[in-house]
Amino acid sequence: MMQNIENKVAYITGGTKGIGLGIARALMENGVKVAISGRNIQAAEVAKQTLGSENVLVLQADVRNFEDEVRAVEQVIKTFGKLDVVIANAGIGKFAPVDELTLEDWNAMIDTNLTGVFHTLKATVDQLKQNKGYYISMASLAGTNFFAQAAGYNASKFGVVGFTQAAMLDLRSYGIKCTTIMPGSVSSEFNGHIPNEEDAWKIQPADLGQIVVDLLKMNPNVLPSKIEVRPTKVK
Ligand SMILES: NC(=O)c1ccc[n+]([C@@H]2O[C@H](COP(=O)([O-])OP(=O)(O)OC[C@H]3O[C@@H](n4cnc5c(N)ncnc54)[C@H](OP(=O)(O)O)[C@@H]3O)[C@@H](O)[C@H]2O)c1
Repeated sequence: MMQNIENKVAYITGGTKGIGLGIARALMENGVKVAISGRNIQAAEVAKQTLGSENVLVLQADVRNFEDEVRAVEQVIKTFGKLDVVIANAGIGKFAPVDELTLEDWNAMIDTNLTGVFHTLKATVDQLKQNKGYYISMASLAGTNFFAQAAGYNASKFGVVGFTQAAMLDLRSYGIKCTTIMPGSVSSEFNGHIPNEEDAWKIQPADLGQIVVDLLKMNPNVLPSKIEVRPTKVK
């Protein structure tokens, strides 16, 4: 039984670029009202223009600060009246051999990628309970496969997978669904990358948007709680 998602309200952290922006676009094409956040308000305004709709709210919020997440949720409720879908997507990557990884880069990844997804859940969980909502975290294949020069990133993403699966067990009795998506290489602005035609083999942000739409439309009795996503063509 497919669910109608029209007029649902979604909050996407890190929705101003890359994967989050692709998810925002896909949700809006399906009639969902969307709030997107990032640290840089100019980038958020550019994203709003790109999306070109009244049904989008842009927010300056840093997932590392719990108060920012609380304020962002207040803005979403003030604007759209409720919150049904939360995509904890904001994340960064800093790559170096572990003996060269700086404390600053370690803390930035753990605070953003791991503590951030908890902040976002904690700030939204009352709304999710009220609306039998959906919480999706953006982990990575780096949340199950470890690789060289990724000790901090691996630690944060393994953490996101464990966090989301445990949260799923705690929250499903409230009718809340939790899923963690674990993509391989995606064409985005991650780690300073500029998307280009050589990215054609990669997963595209729109593909992940389609997966999110499919999850939201799925029969309420079914919950794919952990999804690994790979490009079909290898570089
Ligand atoms: N690209 C890949 O190959 C890939 C693969 C698997 C998983 N992922 C994961 O997918 C997620 C999205 O990454 P992406 O590839 O779309 O990267 P991206 O193009 O760099 O986008 C990252 C988004 O997160 C925001 N952001 C970063 N730090 C933030 C913070 N502290 N608070 C709020 N927003 C913040 C950025 O906006 P501001 O800079 O303005 O804050 C931007 O909107 C990340 O969690 C990443 O680890 C990426």
